[in-house]
Amino acid sequence: MNVEKGLVPRPDILDIAPYVGGEAQIVGIERPIRLASNESALGPSAKAIAAYRALAGEIHRYPEGNAQELREALGQRHGLDPARIVCGAGSDELIALLLRSYAGPGDEVLYSRHGFLMYPIGAKSVGATPIAAPERALTSDVDALLERVTDRTRIVFIANPNNPTGTYLGAEEMARLHAGLPPSVLLAIDAAYAEFVNRNDYQPGISLVDRAENVVMLRTFSKIYALAGLRLGWAYCPPAIADVLNRVRGPFNVTAPALAAGVAAVEDLEALNRARAHNDRWLLWFSDRLAGLGVPLTPSVANFVLAGFPDDPRRNADAVFAFLHSRGILTRKMASYGLPQHLRITIGTGPEMETVAAALAEFMAAR
Ligand SMILES: Cc1ncc(COP(=O)(O)O)c(C=O)c1O
Repeated sequence: MNVEKGLVPRPDILDIAPYVGGEAQIVGIERPIRLASNESALGPSAKAIAAYRALAGEIHRYPEGNAQELREALGQRHGLDPARIVCGAGSDELIALLLRSYAGPGDEVLYSRHGFLMYPIGAKSVGATPIAAPERALTSDVDALLERVTDRTRIVFIANPNNPTGTYLGAEEMARLHAGLPPSVLLAIDAAYAEFVNRNDYQPGISLVDRAENVVMLRTFSKIYALAGLRLGWAYCPPAIADVLNRVRGPFNVTAPALAAGVAAVEDLEALNRARAHNDRWLLWFSDRLAGLGVPLTPSVANFVLAGFPDDPRRNADAVFAFLHSRGILTRKMASYGLPQHLRITIGTGPEMETVAAALAEFMAAR
């Protein structure tokens, strides 16, 4: 043992560029318009808030460690066997648990070039090598992914729809991706934004999980259910994968308030439909407004848009970001995703979207 060296982390850990979340504050502005983290525009169901508050006097107790009630509510809502559902502290935790269980040093973890950043970060944290497959028109490319599968590949992560591009793969393309993978490779379909999608050819992945041993679907309560601060996600798995995740997760990995609010949120269909209708309306409205201003967009099916800007330093993404920031509007820079000339803008409330659109119009007109 080399005692001279002192304490060092495992190799590669210090290569990880830590995930930087969206900004939430602007100095001097009391309530900025927060469109940087794909949070919900409307906030949580009133029933979820009440369930959360009702637990205030009980937080000295450990949570129920099997998330039984929440898994049953999810099973009921989606027509799934609760025994095949595993809950986590956000889908981030489930991504990390899948990596810890199925990948390690020397293994490869495949993802799409502009896929969610936690896939490469998580892969490195277990010593595996992240491999990015190129995309076509900022959309996951099944052929490019399959071409990069090697005998070291352990997991393929696909966010569907993808963050930050907002694009998606139809059910047939996802089935083709699965059909091209060897049974030893896990396909993790991260459907964090599934509830927002309004396309006939889209499926979140349930039927693939039902007919394969090597597919999991990940879902979150952070987006349409508006519970990001509580940290709650779930995985629908083949029984053997549920068994593995239940072995590696912490015994109380989901908090009691999160479990209670989650059950109330799943059962509040009215709140869900309201959030969906809001997004349908304002995603379309905002996309049309940006198109009218000549801002190129990927066709988003989620609760955000990815807007492209020119290279010209007077009008580029950094200049737009700074201008919106000066108006109290927070958007997300995309350089960490390899998209330095794009900004990601979450769909907020109607008045927020009107304010952003007006600010962008003013910016464009002045240049
Ligand atoms: C594609 C995708 N997966 C997972 C997550 C993480 O969600 P959670 O809050 O459930 O950890 C996000 C959050 O932005 C996301 O965009």
